[in-house]
Amino acid sequence: MAFAITQNCCNDASCLSVCPVNCIHPTPDEPDFGKTDLLYIDPRSCIDCGACADACPVDAITRVSRLSPSQAIYAELNADYYRDRPVDHAWGAPTFPPADIGSVSLKRVAVVGTGPAACYTATALLRQTDAAVTFFDKLPVPGGLARYGVAPDHTSTRRIGEHFRSLFVHSRVTMRLGVEVGVDVTVEELSRTFDAVVYAVGADRDRQLPLESEVVPMSARTLVGWYTGHPDVPADAVNLRGVTRVVVIGNGNVALDAARILTAPVEDLVGTDISAHALAALRDSAVQDVTVLGRRGPEVAAFTRSECQALVDRTSVPVLVAGDDDLSSVLAALPLSASAAPLASVPRADEAETGDGARRIVFSFGRAPVAVRPGALDVRGSGASDAGVVSSIPADLVLQATGYRGSALPGLPFDADRGTVRNVEGRVVDSDDRPVAGAYVVGWAKRGATGGIGDNKLDAERTVELMLADSLSAATSSGRATAGRRPLFGRTGR
Ligand SMILES: Cc1cc2nc3c(=O)[nH]c(=O)nc-3n(C[C@H](O)[C@H](O)[C@H](O)COP(=O)(O)OP(=O)(O)OC[C@H]3O[C@@H](n4cnc5c(N)ncnc54)[C@H](O)[C@@H]3O)c2cc1C
Ligand SMILES: NC(=O)c1ccc[n+]([C@@H]2O[C@H](COP(=O)([O-])OP(=O)(O)OC[C@H]3O[C@@H](n4cnc5c(N)ncnc54)[C@H](OP(=O)(O)O)[C@@H]3O)[C@@H](O)[C@H]2O)c1
Ligand code: SF4
Ligand code: SF4
Repeated sequence: MAFAITQNCCNDASCLSVCPVNCIHPTPDEPDFGKTDLLYIDPRSCIDCGACADACPVDAITRVSRLSPSQAIYAELNADYYRDRPVDHAWGAPTFPPADIGSVSLKRVAVVGTGPAACYTATALLRQTDAAVTFFDKLPVPGGLARYGVAPDHTSTRRIGEHFRSLFVHSRVTMRLGVEVGVDVTVEELSRTFDAVVYAVGADRDRQLPLESEVVPMSARTLVGWYTGHPDVPADAVNLRGVTRVVVIGNGNVALDAARILTAPVEDLVGTDISAHALAALRDSAVQDVTVLGRRGPEVAAFTRSECQALVDRTSVPVLVAGDDDLSSVLAALPLSASAAPLASVPRADEAETGDGARRIVFSFGRAPVAVRPGALDVRGSGASDAGVVSSIPADLVLQATGYRGSALPGLPFDADRGTVRNVEGRVVDSDDRPVAGAYVVGWAKRGATGGIGDNKLDAERTVELMLADSLSAATSSGRATAGRRPLFGRTGR
């Protein structure tokens, strides 16, 4: 009776190295890594030792015999991954740090940000060098989106925060919270003070939405900041009074978080980390209908299968799909592992009709937003029967959950097209693609706003490998001049 990986998996790959029989895949050197929602355990090879379950920071691994009825699908999904895929369970050659790691001249490293990418970077640096790490964050509380993004009802995922907290009290770590780089300290000052600076500043803006109206939807960032208690989002930023119908533009996981929290029975939220003001407002909320709007079809839905499955399995709030018979056939033809596969079994809905007063979530595919009007969102169809046709979905509140982008930091090269720090594989580069000495980037600020918490681990480790390689090659060529560096924050830190 094997173990299985379930919904909470954030792909950080912590379980891989502890498995004595290498039966968890894809591994980082396999082409599927980073493309699957979860990692999967091969039930034919698992020897039931439980080591992976102990290593998982978010309790995503369970013995198959202990899966709850709603989790039973994960036994099938784990096995399904191996059905037509020959997997090599032999261990690859071990890798070791370079033999001359003692020559690495990184003694003082600044990490800007305290989200997952920053934490994985600092972990790798503390493990592989004797550098002292100084974290900077503009917020007074560390954690980035692990603290102010992950939904409060994702209690297992939020546990990753406990994992990171031990890092913040490490003897070689200094915390500079409430210090905004670019405002309180410049990029230039950091580069003068530290041997290397790693930017892990995430993505703090909305992707631009082309609408034919001046009314702008509410950003999902505001809703998320409101229910997680983000210090910059006031308690009255969201007013649900008189709101019964909500349309969420976009169908990524942030859209699903918004739909789930807005319709959650309040008892599901009591005892979680939700802000007191959001809990009070949701207790009195009259929200009934939440439409999740995708501009394309279900076969390319942006949400992950596990988040969709969790929504469908929540028996307290029905999930429906709007659309015609063609859509039913598309859903029915999806493979078991497809993101929208759980929707194949849900009832159909006409979103022009409200439900019977009870709450519900309606998925609507193939319709792009056109304009926000008082009481409605106009959308343009792209399906076989409604291509180009503009219709309206009634809405008291329209939310935009169409993805995030980064902002330019003064003094740091910025790629405006991608909304990231300008970089090649994590080395910050100038407009001629020449590396900026000692400057690196990780996480969403490097790759763009995509991927879950664990995706930032390998990403950070790869950037740290580059830092070590650069430091070694600098040490072997000439030896870097360190004279003239002075401690900045003995002087100006707050
Ligand atoms: C709403 C939401 C919910 C999510 N839920 C999940 C989930 O349940 N599971 C999952 O696996 N993934 C989830 N994700 C994805 C996950 O949060 C990201 O993969 C991850 O947070 C990206 O890490 P990061 O460190 O690059 O950025 P962030 O976590 O955004 O961290 C950036 C940090 O940099 C700081 N900063 C920015 N600019 C400056 C500056 N100028 N000076 C100083 N500090 C600065 C910020 O304050 C912040 O602390 C979610 C994402 C969102 C948006
Ligand atoms: N595991 C979790 O619980 C969790 C929770 C939250 C976030 N995350 C992760 O965090 C990352 C970011 O999530 P996200 O939801 O912000 O972004 P996302 O996954 O990129 O989804 C963005 C959505 O917005 C749509 N969109 C973009 N531009 C649009 C436009 N002009 N008009 C209409 N729709 C538009 C996209 O449609 P198209 O697909 O057509 O472009 C897509 O549906 C993702 O990797 C996500 O998995 C994970
Ligand atoms: S239970 Fe043991 S053998 Fe099975 S996947 Fe986990 S670590 Fe590997
Ligand atoms: S969260 Fe990490 S440790 Fe847990 S199952 Fe997923 S990859 Fe493995």
